[in-house]
Amino acid sequence: MSRPVLWIPRRLSDATLARARRDYDVIVKADDTPGTADEIIAMSAQVDAMIPCHSEHFSADVVARLNPRLKILANHSVGVDHCDLAALSGRGIVVTNTPDVLSDATAEIAMLLMLGAARHAVTGDRIVRSGAWDSWSPSFMVGTQVTGARLGIVGMGRVGRAFARKARGFDMEIHYHNRTRLDPAEEQGTIWHETLQTLLQQAQFLSLHCPATPATRDLLNAKTLAMLPGGAIVVNTARGALVDEDALIAALDSGHVAAAGLDCFKVEPGGNPALAKHENVFMLPHIGSATRATRDAMGYRALDNLDAFFAGHAPADRVA
Ligand code: DGY
Repeated sequence: MSRPVLWIPRRLSDATLARARRDYDVIVKADDTPGTADEIIAMSAQVDAMIPCHSEHFSADVVARLNPRLKILANHSVGVDHCDLAALSGRGIVVTNTPDVLSDATAEIAMLLMLGAARHAVTGDRIVRSGAWDSWSPSFMVGTQVTGARLGIVGMGRVGRAFARKARGFDMEIHYHNRTRLDPAEEQGTIWHETLQTLLQQAQFLSLHCPATPATRDLLNAKTLAMLPGGAIVVNTARGALVDEDALIAALDSGHVAAAGLDCFKVEPGGNPALAKHENVFMLPHIGSATRATRDAMGYRALDNLDAFFAGHAPADRVA
């Protein structure tokens, strides 16, 4: 029997590609740039499956033009906001993601951003690197202490819980807002808030860990940012769509928000030049899951889903 044909638009880890080539006829896009709508549509006539990343967009318009040969998208991402799931289901295309395996790596980046924003990492690095470090005083680069502070987590899914585990090591008082309250065994001293508003009122540090959906778009906006205590620090490793960046800039300019740590932006790649003018914003280029171990694990998880599908079983991580 002939092997399924698989399109991989981005350069995945060597281990992932080796395993994919062992079991599938693989076409890898040569230039490692995001697959365009035209490329996605053209490839759908040549392959049975794709492993897209969040850089490939399956809008309703693209999905309507896919060739019926394409049967499954085994995403190499936990977020699936780049896929119109209703449109894909409507075409009978199975969609999977890669939960769990990137939670710790992403939580590490959230911790890095929280600490870096709190302790002026951008300014400190600039001063030393540029040779401008010519004095020291007790009032030099004084930041905000993380240890023992109140942390608010929005979205207590896998990544939110991984971040809470790490924050416990800093003796933080952890509050969270989630649609459903965790089981007591999982809650481990964290404090559930039924509403976002009461969470925000407590959060000296706020970290976003919920998916981007129409309901969470601009969840942090002028009104909700104003609910934070003065001097709060905001961290986003989830999706840029969650934050109204103009409102965040206004809150940074007024000092109401002391600093921010951002791995995600409304426009990616590229980010926001107005945010980049703020040294109290510590920014990274969407690298939450970018460790070697995690990238291998994500690739393997996507292939596990494909293997299950082509063996006639339900893929473990089916989302549509
Ligand atoms: C994810 O998996 O959703 C990460 O943001 C990387 O794509």
